Amino acid sequence: MTQTDTAPAVSDADQEFFHREGYLVLPDLIDADYNTRLIAELDELVQHRAAKDHRMIVSYPEMGGLTSHPLIINRLRALMGERFAMHHIHSARHEAGNGGVNWHQDYEQYPQTNRSHIMVHVFYYLSGLNGTVGDLLVLPRSQNVVVPNGGMGLFGTQDLPGSLVVDKLTPGSAIIVHSALWHARRPKPGGEDQPRYFIDVSYCQHGVLWPAYPRVDEINSKALELGLGRNGTCDFLYDSTQFFNRRELDEAFKERNKGSIALQMKGVGV
Ligand SMILES: [Fe+2]
Repeated sequence: MTQTDTAPAVSDADQEFFHREGYLVLPDLIDADYNTRLIAELDELVQHRAAKDHRMIVSYPEMGGLTSHPLIINRLRALMGERFAMHHIHSARHEAGNGGVNWHQDYEQYPQTNRSHIMVHVFYYLSGLNGTVGDLLVLPRSQNVVVPNGGMGLFGTQDLPGSLVVDKLTPGSAIIVHSALWHARRPKPGGEDQPRYFIDVSYCQHGVLWPAYPRVDEINSKALELGLGRNGTCDFLYDSTQFFNRRELDEAFKERNKGSIALQMKGVGV
């Protein structure tokens, strides 16, 4: 065995950092060849969408393969344990003049009441970050502050006390973010000749059911059919039974959501 075979996917210090601060930067995660193929494929996807050809992202071989790539899955195992399921993959090409995104968090829970299990978003910056188009803002340690997803949107994309700006990343770098970490994209001038190639893939830890992404069954079936389960070793990533359809519960919840929810739960499941 080489040293690489036995080295932990994420050092103890980095694991501790992730759980405390809520994020972990993985510089140069994707090698140059794979990165070039992903960028070419994202260009294809942008062309398809312009022609109203909306294919599932898992059906694109390079981006689909990214969702179960050992490079990331081995690291997520170190951070989340052996079982977790993919929630979604999004791919986008941010052009110059992109309007950015206000402060928010992306943890899937309805309503937002606790952080008992981990959900992560992996942000892939295929063309890196260089201070143009949009900077990533994060507020370290905010993942444990329970707020609605858009509850801090009124802060726009301003600095917050303790927030960090990520504006320098080499192409092919990734950041694993606890999905509940407060983050934003601050619009920046420039980048006319260099769009920002961005993919995010999110995963939910096993142990509770999570609100589903639309068409989760269809997407997971397609992923498995295309072999993204890597001969059974990664089938667990595409397990639709880990999710529930929130919309079906909305009405009943709204009706009962009065005063303290703990009172509604009295005697249930304890
Ligand atoms: Fe987000």
